Amino acid sequence: MAKITITTAVVLIFFLLLELAGIYLASPLNCTDRKIYIRRLPIRYNKVLAVSCSRYSPLTINLCPYLHNSGLGPKVHDRFRSWHRTHHHLIEKFFHRRVQDYPCLIGDPKQANAIFLPYYVGLDSLRFLYGDGWNSSVQHGMDLFNYLLKNNAEIWRRNGGSDHFLISGRSSWDFSRPKMKLDWGTSFLELPEFFNVTVLTPESRRWSWQEQAIPYMTSFHPKNVAEFYKWVNMTEKMDRTSLMLFVKSSTDVDSSDEDVADILSQKILKECRTNFGLCTLVDCTGKKCEDEPKSYIHSLLHSKFCLHPPGISPTTRQIFDGIIAGCIPVFFDEMTSSFQYKWHLKFPEKNVDQQLLSTFSVFISEKDVVEETVTVLDVLTKIGEKEVNLMRKELKKRVFGVMYRSHKASPELKEMKDAFDLAIDGVFQRIKTRQNH
Ligand SMILES: *[C@@H]1O[C@H](CO)[C@@H](O)[C@H](O)[C@H]1NC(C)=O
Ligand SMILES: *[C@@H]1O[C@H](CO)[C@@H](O)[C@H](O)[C@H]1NC(C)=O
Ligand SMILES: *[C@@H]1O[C@H](CO)[C@@H](O)[C@H](O)[C@H]1NC(C)=O
Ligand SMILES: *[C@@H]1O[C@H](CO)[C@@H](O)[C@H](O)[C@H]1NC(C)=O
Repeated sequence: MAKITITTAVVLIFFLLLELAGIYLASPLNCTDRKIYIRRLPIRYNKVLAVSCSRYSPLTINLCPYLHNSGLGPKVHDRFRSWHRTHHHLIEKFFHRRVQDYPCLIGDPKQANAIFLPYYVGLDSLRFLYGDGWNSSVQHGMDLFNYLLKNNAEIWRRNGGSDHFLISGRSSWDFSRPKMKLDWGTSFLELPEFFNVTVLTPESRRWSWQEQAIPYMTSFHPKNVAEFYKWVNMTEKMDRTSLMLFVKSSTDVDSSDEDVADILSQKILKECRTNFGLCTLVDCTGKKCEDEPKSYIHSLLHSKFCLHPPGISPTTRQIFDGIIAGCIPVFFDEMTSSFQYKWHLKFPEKNVDQQLLSTFSVFISEKDVVEETVTVLDVLTKIGEKEVNLMRKELKKRVFGVMYRSHKASPELKEMKDAFDLAIDGVFQRIKTRQNH
């Protein structure tokens, strides 16, 4: 009994000291309607998955080297404090950490406005995608669902899961295998059991109900305001000698597939090779650009436009690498642009605003390039220097909102809304609208 009292007193004094140190007072956030409860899950749903990072290597990437710093990865170099070797799949770990640091956490689920499920869905999917679970991949998620209903079921039942959310480091295509079809992926997003849950993902399907696309993690994670502005101010002053840049990220670009996306990539690759001097070709196959971001970022900084044709799937991490380096994105498919990232690039909800998008990006129809009615070079050379500068200014306004600051950021930087904060805002908004229906 006495022991408990002493412990309680120590804890109370500790919190009092924190309060005096201004740590809690530093947060200006109004917690009304913004309270998050973190659902307690057995470590097999998160921690164990993270430490099994090399389990399916070499069938797929060994994620162990990227686990450091709560999933941001190790620093690139001591002198470049904001840059890490980041693998975007580990956003599941990083996001979890950021939720744990969120100023409006609450211990009572009944009072929460949102319930976070710290389930690493992408890491868990590896056993279905690459392990011996492949023939039960239509069941992916059922184990978790059963857990949620067997333990403190009232947390789920209160709103049928519609106040729950989770984060995925993998694209929705990896989770939307129809139950009756033998195909790539698991059926996590096809399970009616999870239809009410909000799933944040780097890429959503065309008509998505559960999921919302949020930016991929890049390698840039500043710790204070000065570091951030030093970088974005520099991107403005760069001498961009290359008109356009194309990143080769999948090995099959050179193949002779009949897929439209492949034909498009081949046409662009050809244009890039024949216009040497105007076009920079960067090789990011394997994990070259995650592991050594320096030379890759250098190329981004010296190019005006970055070409983003759909690859294995419509979106890539390179879109955000480019935005952060001030390289104006060129899209070829609506699935790469206007169907994604509404919360972060600030489209009006549902109504896709192509006009807003065109203030900081270029759209060239995939069909026109494939049928050779236009060339990328023609379209881009017609855009005047003045217009290019205006677009880059618009792009610069969006940089903070698409990058993930370090979890160890200074109090001033924490007051600015980064990609995580905008995602959380979106989650609250969405849960609210759904509950009013
Ligand atoms: C916090 O927000 C709520 C509504 O969102 C508002 O009613 C309340 O006045 C705000 N409190 C403060 C201290 O700003
Ligand atoms: C696949 O499923 C069948 C039955 O449906 C089972 O007998 C077999 O062991 C499973 N294979 C693996 C690798 O789990
Ligand atoms: C999803 O929400 C609806 C409406 O609130 C509810 O009827 C349904 O049971 C929920 N689904 C699950 C699996 O709880
Ligand atoms: C960045 O530029 C802005 C104006 O555009 C300026 O106010 C600020 O001091 C600059 N910051 C750094 C760190 O260079």
